[in-house]
Amino acid sequence: MICSSNLCVNPNLLATHSKCRVKLKARSQIDMEISGLDNTGRQFKNADEMWREEIGDSQKKFDWYRNGVGYWQGVEASMDGVLGGYAHVNEPDINSSEAFINSLLTHLFPNSGRDQHLVALDCGSGIGRVTKNLLIRYFNEVDLLEPVSHFLEAARKNLAPENLSVSEDHKAVNFYCTPLQEFTPDAGRYDVIWIQWCIGHLADDDFVSFFKRAKAGLKPGGFFVLKENLARSGFVLDNEDKSLTRSHAYFKELFNQCGLNIYNMKDQKGFPDELFPVRMYALTTGTLKKVGSSRPKRHSNRPALIK
Ligand SMILES: C[S@@+](CC[C@H](N)C(=O)[O-])C[C@H]1O[C@@H](n2cnc3c(N)ncnc32)[C@H](O)[C@@H]1O
Repeated sequence: MICSSNLCVNPNLLATHSKCRVKLKARSQIDMEISGLDNTGRQFKNADEMWREEIGDSQKKFDWYRNGVGYWQGVEASMDGVLGGYAHVNEPDINSSEAFINSLLTHLFPNSGRDQHLVALDCGSGIGRVTKNLLIRYFNEVDLLEPVSHFLEAARKNLAPENLSVSEDHKAVNFYCTPLQEFTPDAGRYDVIWIQWCIGHLADDDFVSFFKRAKAGLKPGGFFVLKENLARSGFVLDNEDKSLTRSHAYFKELFNQCGLNIYNMKDQKGFPDELFPVRMYALTTGTLKKVGSSRPKRHSNRPALIK
C-alpha cells in the first residue's frame, strides 16, 4: 500500500527509535538532542545533525522546500490525494476536529454563532477538505493558504457558493497560493488559525518565525489549532516529501520558543492502527487560562506497515 508520508509511518522504525538516548544538556536543548530516523531507517544523533544535512546552506534549504512542494504537485487534487490513499479517515478526522473546536469555541467565544463574526485561516489547506467539511460551518469567513496551485484551484471550486450548503454569511474569502514560511497574515484578522498536516514541511527556524508572525494575525482571544502526526520520540524524517514528524516533546520545545501555551490538547481516535498517532493542540499566546484537558493516552509501538 502506498500512502502519503504526512499521514503514515512504518512503526518498525519507531520501535528502534524509542531506544534513543538523551544527552545531558541545558533543559531547553534536551528534546532536540533526542535521536531520530529517516524513512529508510537511517539514524541521526540529534535534530541538529539532520537539519545540517537537510538545510545546512541556502541552496539545501531552497531544495528542501522545492522538493516538499514538488511532491504535492505530483499528487491528484482529491480526498485520496491529500489523505495519502486514506480518504476514509476524513470522517473520523472531521468528527474529532469538530468536537475539539466546538468545546474551544464554547469556552473561548461564548457568543459565537450569535453576534460574533468569526474568521479562520486554513493553512496548508490542500483541496479545502477541512474548510468545506468543518470550518465553513463555524466561521463566517475562511481564508485558505496552500502553495500547490492545482490544490488551491480545486479548493476554490469546492468552496464556490453553489457547492456549499451553508448560509450566505459563511464563505471562503481569500485563496493565498503561498507557503507558510513566506506568509504573514493581516494583523488581527483571525479568531482561529487552523494548521493541519502541513507544519512538518517547515524547518524548525521557519516553524518558530511563522508562529511568531502569525500571532499578530490573531484577534485578541484568538488561538491556533495544530493537528499533526506524532513521533513516539525525537523525529522521523521523510525523504520523499521532505517533511518531519515531531514528537510531543519536540513540539513542546518549539511552542516554547514561539511563546505559545498549550491551552488544550486531544488525541485523534478511530484511525487505522498503522498510521501515526495524531494529536490536536489548541495554542494560545499566553493570556488565557487552560481549561480541563483530557490526558493524552500513551501509544505503544505497533508492528506493521507502510511504504
Ligand atoms: C497531507 S496534505 C493536508 C491538506 C489539508 N490540510 C487536509 O488536511 O486535507 C499536506 C498539505 O501541505 C501542503 N504543503 C506542503 N508544503 C507546504 C508549506 N511549505 N506551507 C504550507 N503548506 C504546505 C501540501 O501542498 C498539502 O496540501
